[in-house]
Amino acid sequence: MRNKIAAANWKMNLTLTEGEKLLDEILKENIELIEHQQAIFAVPFPYLQFAQKKVLGRKNYFISAQDCSDKKSGAYTGEVSVDMIASLQITHVIIGHSERRAYFNESNSMLADKINLILEKGLIPIFCCGESLEIRESGKQNEFVAKQMSESLFHLQPGQIEKIIIAYEPIWAIGTGKTATTLEAQDMHGHLRTTLARQYGDKIADEISILYGGSVKGNNAMELFSQPDVDGGLVGGASLNAQEFCTIIKSLPK
Ligand code: PGA
Repeated sequence: MRNKIAAANWKMNLTLTEGEKLLDEILKENIELIEHQQAIFAVPFPYLQFAQKKVLGRKNYFISAQDCSDKKSGAYTGEVSVDMIASLQITHVIIGHSERRAYFNESNSMLADKINLILEKGLIPIFCCGESLEIRESGKQNEFVAKQMSESLFHLQPGQIEKIIIAYEPIWAIGTGKTATTLEAQDMHGHLRTTLARQYGDKIADEISILYGGSVKGNNAMELFSQPDVDGGLVGGASLNAQEFCTIIKSLPK
């Protein structure tokens, strides 16, 4: 079975004290994750180290960075490299979130460079893709998202692509309270898997977890995650509330 994943994306929220309290509240629930279930917390850079210490020894709990530099090292003031992230024993890095694409001009080719650095270091990229409302309304979402994947991912070898996690996040559903219907989510996830299969074959496409992101909440997670190609969620707003996120973790298929 593919990994089923509840991933929290704290974005630029919470002070250190608030972040510690939130993580403590979630971890004290002691939700046991079985073999193919994972919980991932993507926290701001300054919190990576404390968060990593808190999940140490907890089976299938991981900490992720929310981004990394596309440069290996050097005179890039303010940037954070994959090597730095790896040196904290962090295992995952989100890249290509629509907020980074929109506000920081991250292009598909820049993301390809980031993916290469992440994989070279043995970390797992959580690659985000997704269309705007305008593109959805013009009916071109499938080709738009396939292009994002092909320009950032399809240079990878089969042994590399199978390491990644994909997160489909329609921009019109992020932070808006407007979730894609289960049918819309499944349709797109099916399309992403078919696109992966065309490039890498069914076996590899079948092994890649594809998460849905965009207003996932405690009360819609179970239905979304029940879809055959939806392997969990990347969760923003609802991941800042311990009870909500615990419900989301518990909604992962067994
Ligand atoms: P949201 O954010 O759950 O607040 O819609 C999702 C994301 O941007 O990862």
